Amino acid sequence: MRSGFVAVAAVAAAVQFTPAAALAQGSLNLICSADVVICELLENRFEKETGIDVNMVRMSSGEAYAKVRAEARNPKTDVWWAGTGDPHLQAASEGLTLEYKSPRLAELQTWAVRQAESADYRTVGVYAGALGWGYNADILAKKGLKEPQCWADLLDPGFKGEIQVANPNSSGTAYTALATLVQIMGEDKAFDYLKKLNANVSQYTKSGSAPVKAAARGETTVGIVFMHDAVAQAVEGFPVKVVAPCEGTGYEIGSMSIVKGARNLDNAKKWYDWVLSPEVQSQMKEAKSFQLPSNKKAEVPPEAPKFEDVRLIDYDFKTYGDPEKRKALLQRWDREIGTLAN
Ligand code: F6P
Repeated sequence: MRSGFVAVAAVAAAVQFTPAAALAQGSLNLICSADVVICELLENRFEKETGIDVNMVRMSSGEAYAKVRAEARNPKTDVWWAGTGDPHLQAASEGLTLEYKSPRLAELQTWAVRQAESADYRTVGVYAGALGWGYNADILAKKGLKEPQCWADLLDPGFKGEIQVANPNSSGTAYTALATLVQIMGEDKAFDYLKKLNANVSQYTKSGSAPVKAAARGETTVGIVFMHDAVAQAVEGFPVKVVAPCEGTGYEIGSMSIVKGARNLDNAKKWYDWVLSPEVQSQMKEAKSFQLPSNKKAEVPPEAPKFEDVRLIDYDFKTYGDPEKRKALLQRWDREIGTLAN
């Protein structure tokens, strides 16, 4: 009698606790190209709020683009959230992503809408952030080095082996740096600069923010990264100072795209609209993500580097998000810089 009761109770509990709602709501396959902390925070909140089971994989922007491209005939991914805009534009122009106009479009900043318009609504801006670097102030002082305020300062031989930056093939941050230098200096001079910079670079990392995490831990002096990633380390209490380069700098329009042929299209649209809402974008600071949010009503964290305080170049997203241009620049980087790095 008693064991029968236990069995019935167990079944009842299973019914109650099996995420039946989740099963009914189905799933969502998501690539997340921002920091893993914000990726996991959003994944958990979306699951909780909607009952949709999210299978999330974290990848750098260039890797994510390569995955979406490789899956073109048989897509396994539904939504690609975050990462720099150039590879999203590239995916859009190759017809890998789906046109979608979110009802939230009217709430977004002009730069986010422009990103969507330029790709026939196959992508949209989710946040923005300027490129710069972070340096470890303690190591700088110990080595008696001058604060590097300009791109030119990074060539000082005192920084030999003291700079990290990501590889532009995998990282959208590093591709933004490459495209920025090309726009500031012209292509040949930018490659001359990168060759000289290579003498000071100890490592080309896979992920864009890794260099400033290394600087925070004292493993390198300077990490060339998006300024918001340097701010995140300073906010954690590390002796990291954030620099906006004096000659000017580029920026990203972090983007989001629905994959063409997405198997969970309704859920992909639910995620898309949800993540563009001011409520969700205002939560990014909880994960120490200090980009500028794309929804006008979202709270801008006080720590977020503001565009008004940075000398921004008029970054040409159309040209540098073009597949041919990106491919050509990356091939030249592999030939002229990647070979030096090995
Ligand atoms: O860490 C966050 C972030 O800098 C985003 O702002 C950006 O879109 C992304 O990382 C780029 O990462 P990666 O350079 O690894 O592609």
